Amino acid sequence: MAPRVLITREPPGSSVDRISEVADVFLWDHDRPIDTDVLAREAASSVGIYCMLTDAIDRNLLMASPKLEVVSTMAVGVDNIDLDACRELGIVVGHTPGVLTESTADMAWALLMAASRRLEESINYVQQGRWEGWELDGIISRDVSGTTIGIVGMGRIGQAIARRAEGFDMEVLFTNRSRVSGAVGTQVDLEELLGRSDHVVIAVSLNEQTRGMISTQQFAMMKTTANLVNIARGPIVDTDALVAALVEGQIRCAGLDVTDPEPIPVDHPLVALPNCLIVPHLGSATDRTRVAMADLATDNLLAALSGADMPARTA
Ligand code: GLV
Ligand code: GLV
Repeated sequence: MAPRVLITREPPGSSVDRISEVADVFLWDHDRPIDTDVLAREAASSVGIYCMLTDAIDRNLLMASPKLEVVSTMAVGVDNIDLDACRELGIVVGHTPGVLTESTADMAWALLMAASRRLEESINYVQQGRWEGWELDGIISRDVSGTTIGIVGMGRIGQAIARRAEGFDMEVLFTNRSRVSGAVGTQVDLEELLGRSDHVVIAVSLNEQTRGMISTQQFAMMKTTANLVNIARGPIVDTDALVAALVEGQIRCAGLDVTDPEPIPVDHPLVALPNCLIVPHLGSATDRTRVAMADLATDNLLAALSGADMPARTA
């Protein structure tokens, strides 16, 4: 009998066809995250789950899914999956590192430059008909070239962000849990990075050590002219502390691809701030990268179902 596989949202490309060749597939065929009761019901009888970063694959769900052998997520971040529970239960977990590195680094740079050069305010200015002529002191911003960038988390994405900084003649500082050799830049501790950087870019994965790591105390260490960019996960930054830092001028601006909560409600104070630019978690959202992620997540799932090693296993 073909193993049952739950696919929680239709991935681009040929994933569903490829998985259907070997498995009895349940596909959540809607343009929104799978309902939690459907997720629990289908997981309970599935051997494999192909999921998205929006699905909570927590201990309760895993404990109530006795047939489950593999979870394959179409994301690099795995903070939505209880990895300890997976290890205890002998469930292997695959993710999609590498294929989204360059797209995500590009987005970090888009946000860094857009926030720094006040693009959102400038676009609004033109659209609102307020541009009446060249201005000497209209929308004045701060340079990117020749400044200092501080990258928190020097994984693949952090290193790709650092490589781009070389083209802007920037000094590169970074922090990382373990020593990194051969990367562009200088490894320092977080306090030094925050004190010296003109742009602080969060590229670390979310876990219990990094949750809330940028809060009131850390904003106080940053330059009042600094720009904060987050392309990792919202909860790494304390949202209330960020609002206060932006309102009180403790830092100058922020560019966010991720927020806490996510999605951020439209009436949240962060959304209205002119010095905070927010895009809806689009780091990997290019046509080419999303297909590459879907393919790798499929390769991971199919490998595990056939008893082979996954190309990208995380637990
Ligand atoms: C996106 O945020 C991912 O983790 O792939
Ligand atoms: C993962 O977290 C990466 O930086 O690739």
